[in-house]
Amino acid sequence: MAEIQKVGVIGFGLMGGGIAQVCALAGYDTRVLDVDEERVARGQATVRARLERDVARARMTQDTCDRALARISGTTRYEDLGDRDLVIEAAVEDLSAKRTVFKRMGEVTQSSAILASNTSSLPLSEMAAASGRPEQVIGLHFFNPPYVLRLVEVVIPESTNQETINAAMVFCDTLNRVTVRVKDTPGFIVNRLLVPFIFDAIRLVETGTASAQDVDQACRIGLNHAMGPLATADLIGLDTLLYISESMFEEYGEPRFKAPTSLRRMVSLGHLGRKSGQGFFAA
Ligand code: NAI
Repeated sequence: MAEIQKVGVIGFGLMGGGIAQVCALAGYDTRVLDVDEERVARGQATVRARLERDVARARMTQDTCDRALARISGTTRYEDLGDRDLVIEAAVEDLSAKRTVFKRMGEVTQSSAILASNTSSLPLSEMAAASGRPEQVIGLHFFNPPYVLRLVEVVIPESTNQETINAAMVFCDTLNRVTVRVKDTPGFIVNRLLVPFIFDAIRLVETGTASAQDVDQACRIGLNHAMGPLATADLIGLDTLLYISESMFEEYGEPRFKAPTSLRRMVSLGHLGRKSGQGFFAA
């Protein structure tokens, strides 16, 4: 398998943009695909603003920022991913959309390319089957925000070969990430633990047991968590949280994975947390 030099990312949203930033800073030629020009431009502007803020705060030199930005290109055409050695999908958390994306990735990329997904909960084996090259499909679950949190859950479906696993682990090392390996199961390690925790926090508020402020305060001070569960929900995106939980509930059938009514209502109203400016705290 060829050394990874050129990276593709699908989806220029919260995660795709952050992953692209990490890859570009590590020296990879990085191309990001989204559904239309407007989203590509928005994704590029967001990464630029973040890097320029780091320069303004003296966390990064102007030269490092300029070089990283020059390594990131955007596209709306799958054919432009043809020369990539690794493509990381970070599109919407919907299995049928991801199947379609993996089928396209399998068609357009060179046969040696590794195809990865940043899915939070969906079965990698289904994406592997859709790609037409299941032995080269792997999960690389980055955390939000990817340029701050260094964990990557490396999710390994049964079909994946050792060469792909090794290449993915080396790639994560070059990004200065910390990896953990986990089998292809809904929610992997972190979301399996986190989603029921956040849902219980929402239920505490829903039932009037405590305010959102006090629930988060209790976890920050009493558990020494850097961030409370409801602020974490706002950060993840309430729509993404809902989609993640639906696939976990479908798989495990356990009530602890069933989304609380108030979460569903917020998502229907378009209150999606930080990205929409309305959520448990985002205002
Ligand atoms: P987002 O809503 O911020 O961005 C998704 C982007 O993908 C949008 O720009 C959208 O236009 C684009 N997109 C949607 N369908 C597409 C398609 N078929 N082809 C190309 N682009 C497409 O969502 P976010 O939060 O970045 O999530 C992306 C993925 O990352 C999801 O699978 C999610 O579960 C996963 N994830 C999210 C985390 C979070 O905290 N938000 C953390 C870790 C993983």
